Amino acid sequence: VKKAQVPILLRRSGPPLFRQIADWFRGQVANGELGAGDRLPTIRELAAALAVNRSTVQMAYRALEADGLVESRVGSGTRVASTPAAADGPATRPPAPGVFRPRFSPGAQAAFTSFLSLEGHSHPTGDVIDFSRLVPDERLLPVKAFTSCMNRVLRSHGGTILGYGQHAGNEALRELLAARLSRSGVPTTAGQILITSGAQQGIELAVRAFAAPGEPVIVSSPTYHQVIGLLNGLSLRTLAVPSGADGMDEAALIRALDSGGGRLVYTMPTFHNPTGHTWDVTVRRRFLDLTGVHRCPVVEDDFEQDLRFRGEAVPTLRALCPDGRVLSLGSFSKGLFPGLRLGWVAGSEEVVARIAALKRFSDLSSGSFLQATLVEFMRTGAFDEHLAGIRVLLERRHEAARAAMETHLTRLASWTLPDGGYAIWIAFRPGVDTRALAHLARDRGVLVAPGFLFDPEGSDRSHVRLTVSCVDEEQIPRGIEILAETASELARRRTSSASLFM
Ligand SMILES: Cc1ncc(COP(=O)(O)O)c(C=O)c1O
Repeated sequence: VKKAQVPILLRRSGPPLFRQIADWFRGQVANGELGAGDRLPTIRELAAALAVNRSTVQMAYRALEADGLVESRVGSGTRVASTPAAADGPATRPPAPGVFRPRFSPGAQAAFTSFLSLEGHSHPTGDVIDFSRLVPDERLLPVKAFTSCMNRVLRSHGGTILGYGQHAGNEALRELLAARLSRSGVPTTAGQILITSGAQQGIELAVRAFAAPGEPVIVSSPTYHQVIGLLNGLSLRTLAVPSGADGMDEAALIRALDSGGGRLVYTMPTFHNPTGHTWDVTVRRRFLDLTGVHRCPVVEDDFEQDLRFRGEAVPTLRALCPDGRVLSLGSFSKGLFPGLRLGWVAGSEEVVARIAALKRFSDLSSGSFLQATLVEFMRTGAFDEHLAGIRVLLERRHEAARAAMETHLTRLASWTLPDGGYAIWIAFRPGVDTRALAHLARDRGVLVAPGFLFDPEGSDRSHVRLTVSCVDEEQIPRGIEILAETASELARRRTSSASLFM
């Protein structure tokens, strides 16, 4: 039995490390370097040889196993499967008797790979300073007021509220949302709104409405990480266009649009995730002009629409381009709570009707009881009251973070100063590998989201997303101090031993 060599990894650029490792072994099997029964190094051996985390190797092996390329058995380690599946695709080998080897669609495989790349970065619970999660602070949720609304809804509607409800969503909720959107400058009717199971479902439905498998979708880089996996799962091609406070890079956007890319563009012009950037009105107009040349549909993800804590609201893309080309998405997850799984899509009736049809055959309807409760919660004024409280708190937490970053991080990094939302994007100076930083900081009780998660290429090593949603003002300075200490230690280590965290 031949023992495998080890791969050489591209640490500064290239796909996530686990994917590089898995792809390397795929190549070894495809070109015959490794054959049936050959043993792969143990997780511990390979992690040590490559100076990577064991979980990285574990993820790579799990991905290979899912593809039917290797088999793991307790006691005999990981070996190339007795009849390995085609190294470049889903499992094709005949199943061994008594073993069901499913043949997955390319989308399911691709989504699974994306899922594994996120899995190692899920958050442990316990005594940590958690700057990694973009969710409201559980301690501040209006549990009591919401409970009263639930009880009132059940008392007044009885069983009638517990059915499927309307496919497009609760009519009263759509009317309330239409009124809110109209007040904010985009005349909207209830018929132009579809209630979705969160903005995430809105993104999926919008993408499916305009793009077929294999077709390209333009996204900003960096972008919301769950969109990368979503597009992979739908077998769509991701065209990443570098993007910053001044919008998408014009030359790259034009190239993407001209090359026939752009069945649609997915954007977050307000409180972008992960950067926190908000495009000003000039940038928005220019973006709409450029995409307008190709009549390219635009999805405007306005997921933190209620979380501006300073400055004037900027007109939405949909307000600036009311001809139906822009579809806007909203969410109750960030202003209220994500367990509702409620959001919406707003656009022209023609587009919303297609998306509503896709949704109907996808999940029939979103939970009707919680929609009715939400209507009650909004009508009593509790929602606006809650939002007002959140905005005050958000401003304080952002201010605490700004002050702490100025004290501890000035020599090591620069950062964004968003006017709303939860996220701050920190750019570290060369020499600080943020993947290593996130690992080390985690060992010291501070969680941040490393930039590569938001990079469609998976290669960003210089940014970190820090959110202030779940950390007290009192804890923020200490968390940032630990992050800064860890970063400067990495910078020092890098100058003394260049190899370890390259
Ligand atoms: C940019 C962006 N869009 C959409 C979502 C998903 O929101 P929802 O919980 O409404 O599905 C998130 C969640 O973090 C997000 O960051």
